[in-house]
Amino acid sequence: MDTKKVLLNDADIPKYWYNILPDMPTPLNPPLNPQTQKPLTPDDLKIFPNAIIEQEMSTQREIPIPEKVREIYSIWRPTPLVRAYNLEKALGTPAKIYYKNESVSPAGSHKPNTAIAQAYYNKMEGVNTLTTETGAGQWGSALALAGSLLDMNIRVYMVKVSYNQKPFRKSMIHLWGAEVFASPSDKTQTGREALKEDPDNPGSLGLAISEAVEDAATHEGTNYALGSVLNHVLLHQTVIGLEAKKQFEMIGDYPDVILAPCGGGSNLGGIGLPFMRDKINGKDVKIVAVEPASCPTLTKGIFHYDYADVAKMTPLLLMFTLGHNFMPPSIHAGGLRYHGDSPILSQLRKDGLLDAVAYKQTEVFEAGMLFAKTEGIIPAPETCHAIKGAIDEAIKAKEEQKEKTILINFSGHGHFDMASYDTFLSGLMEDYEYPKEKVEEALHYLPNIEEV
Ligand SMILES: Cc1ncc(COP(=O)(O)O)c(C=O)c1O
Repeated sequence: MDTKKVLLNDADIPKYWYNILPDMPTPLNPPLNPQTQKPLTPDDLKIFPNAIIEQEMSTQREIPIPEKVREIYSIWRPTPLVRAYNLEKALGTPAKIYYKNESVSPAGSHKPNTAIAQAYYNKMEGVNTLTTETGAGQWGSALALAGSLLDMNIRVYMVKVSYNQKPFRKSMIHLWGAEVFASPSDKTQTGREALKEDPDNPGSLGLAISEAVEDAATHEGTNYALGSVLNHVLLHQTVIGLEAKKQFEMIGDYPDVILAPCGGGSNLGGIGLPFMRDKINGKDVKIVAVEPASCPTLTKGIFHYDYADVAKMTPLLLMFTLGHNFMPPSIHAGGLRYHGDSPILSQLRKDGLLDAVAYKQTEVFEAGMLFAKTEGIIPAPETCHAIKGAIDEAIKAKEEQKEKTILINFSGHGHFDMASYDTFLSGLMEDYEYPKEKVEEALHYLPNIEEV
């Protein structure tokens, strides 16, 4: 029997996270204070613990993973690298397709890799309450899990459209002892204003971030945790790529193409950055962000300073953006409905080191269904994007009769996304065109700042 899974031992859980900042060909422009528009100082980041602020700006290449965090990681890490033989066969491709299965975490996605680390550092600095936003519910449930394992209070603002689509994500969050509110909510000034303007506002990640930041800023002993975008989040996620590199070494192979769904960029950064280091040093590897056509930040956005949230409370980041008040269509991949992208990935994209493609949601669900039927696991709608990208790469390899090694980050399972699959199966799923006019309108509101 051919080897299906490449497995590591508990002792192989990485001891360091990989920080790409010292290896970036173009150094990152600094985040700016939203009021003064001057580079941020650590004082501007008071809603984060000091250890996280240090990591956000660190130029140390390897950052030690605390033993307690490794111990909690061992509940599900190292995750398997799996060869998708049946999918290869169905496609009749000479390509080898591997997936790194991050769906085996208790919350069902890659998100606990940073949730555990962030909760741990807050706890170490005496902060016992964290607020956050969640799109698809994966991040909110990951932080709720972290709160449960580290005995902390968690308050989650969940984008309303996902809150209604995924009632069992809510149950999971409750089961782990956290609170969850539909965003926009009546709990914050920002939420109340959004509801006054439009009581049917479906919410967006940008809006939910504003609510969670406002909650943390207005409550004593409460910090905020972000599930994507920022440098420290991508840093914590590099355990994925570090393990995958070791697993490829074990089988004497190396990926030609790496694909991951891209919302704020954390799982793509997680799997891709350790390989990006090799690419910067001359290795031939293609790293691809897969986005929804209705929210195509890296494929159609512009590289500009912008706010990370709707209410302009967060620092200004230099990134690819569709405009902070762009409200993406209510697609089923809630975790990809974000107007911006990680500054690290944005800079790499600008420097021509990162590829990006965008797909419509029905073709993405078709890809997910083929994966479920051949490999058995039902992917999250976000993950289906990477699968669609990988299938296209595998078909290209077939047309060119080329051997190729493809790596997918299998960022999450879709067990709580069955309502979306039902919509797809009943033929009722809508495809949204790229909302060109809405984006053009949103881009008018970009802050008037050039690179510094
Ligand atoms: C399963 C899954 N994949 C991907 C994403 C996209 O987020 P990111 O780009 O930060 O990895 C999400 C976000 O919620 C998710 O839940």
